[in-house]
Amino acid sequence: MADKKATLHIEGKAPIELPIIEGSEGQDVIDVRKLGASGFFTFDPGFLATASCESQITYIDGDKGILLHRGFPIDQLANNADYLEVCYVLLYGEVPTRAEYEQFRTTVTRHTMVHEQIASFFHGFRRDAHPMAIMCGVVGALSAFYHDSLDINNDLHREITAFRLLSKMPTLAAMCHKYTTGQPFIYPRNDLDYAENFLHMMFATPCEEYEVSPIVSRAMDKIFTLHADHEQNASTSTVRLAGSSGANPFACIAAGIASLWGPAHGGANEACLKMLEEIGCVENIPEFIERAKDKDDPFHLMGFGHRVYKNYDPRATVMREACHEVLDELKIDNPLLDVAMELERIALSDEYFVSKKLYPNVDFYSGIILKAIGIPVSMFTVIFAMSRVIGWIAHWNEMHSDPTNRIGRPRQLYTGYSQREFKPLHERE
Ligand code: CMC
Repeated sequence: MADKKATLHIEGKAPIELPIIEGSEGQDVIDVRKLGASGFFTFDPGFLATASCESQITYIDGDKGILLHRGFPIDQLANNADYLEVCYVLLYGEVPTRAEYEQFRTTVTRHTMVHEQIASFFHGFRRDAHPMAIMCGVVGALSAFYHDSLDINNDLHREITAFRLLSKMPTLAAMCHKYTTGQPFIYPRNDLDYAENFLHMMFATPCEEYEVSPIVSRAMDKIFTLHADHEQNASTSTVRLAGSSGANPFACIAAGIASLWGPAHGGANEACLKMLEEIGCVENIPEFIERAKDKDDPFHLMGFGHRVYKNYDPRATVMREACHEVLDELKIDNPLLDVAMELERIALSDEYFVSKKLYPNVDFYSGIILKAIGIPVSMFTVIFAMSRVIGWIAHWNEMHSDPTNRIGRPRQLYTGYSQREFKPLHERE
């Protein structure tokens, strides 16, 4: 850490010296922690220029289109490792040996069943509930089921919680789907890998086994990998903030799921497919492109643009390849997919989108793949949530491993009334 300083000059005040902290990559940060004592806070709604924590898990350079997990580029991970290996890297910081990988895989596989009582919990929901609504509820409810290892200051307890979440999320996600479609829950199978098992729990029925196509399971695994972590986005920051008070980890993950649900974040994949349905056919695209450009129209092209990537989303590069591979190999004839491909072509060449650097993001392509392999649209964000759980738990774990961690408590710029007198109701009449 170099001894650099930034000096803040405020009219009528003595200059304030603030330390600059250097990261191993990317922008350095001005440490404003002591600023409060000088009578000022910083103002940064939407965290456009604020680092909320120190982290060693994921690095993004949005201008260059770089995404590294523990130093490894996302395309190398997505093309050479499976999701569970990436989970290991995110959680432990290093690549596993073969033995470590096998052990990790076995532990995850052996803990995929959920407490039988959880099945009854599902029955409290209406069948027409959105699967994300059910997911928020049941993941939060895990806090009422697994309370034997909840000492957040205990490394082993935190590891057990990570395993529980990673193992049980696909089971719960598939149960959400089965519940909303009225089919019986399907138990996990230990002979299948992570992606295959998820597809089995989604699509098998007691009357008929589901034969998992290797193309589909490979694409599914890639979707999991490319959504595994993305540093301090809205949902991860939510998990950290909720966890900073020492709250139950399952409840914190439920908070992350709630944050992910919004269409500006993880809900974009579902919103994107709904938009494609609304567009309907290739001939209608120009009209929607014009609407997206119109400042007075709130319509946005869903699946395009990103807060951080102002070049190209590197996850989208990998996902685009997987998307074209799946569409070619499965030879699916669906007019929506034609709309998607034409929209991609137009947006990549249209001056408005090119100049604003609004490229298709990972959720544009993952939505198309999920649609092509028969996943219901309402399950798209649930799949994002189950893939992201490893990122959330790795960040939660990192935060609690740091003895200097303090409860998160932002400040505000107050613009409401100054103090005024309250008159009781009878005096106001
Ligand atoms: N369609 C049309 N115009 C857009 C779009 C879009 N999808 N996204 C941004 N713009 C315009 C925006 O109107 C603004 O224009 P101007 O400079 O004239 O005011 C400019 O581009 C800059 O956008 P911004 O709103 O300042 O960017 P932001 O960083 O606040 O928002 C975003 C990023 C992802 C919320 C936004 O691009 C968006 O709403 N995209 C669609 C939703 C989406 O696909 N979200 C998934 C992101 S990837 C998954 C994840 O990591 O969560």
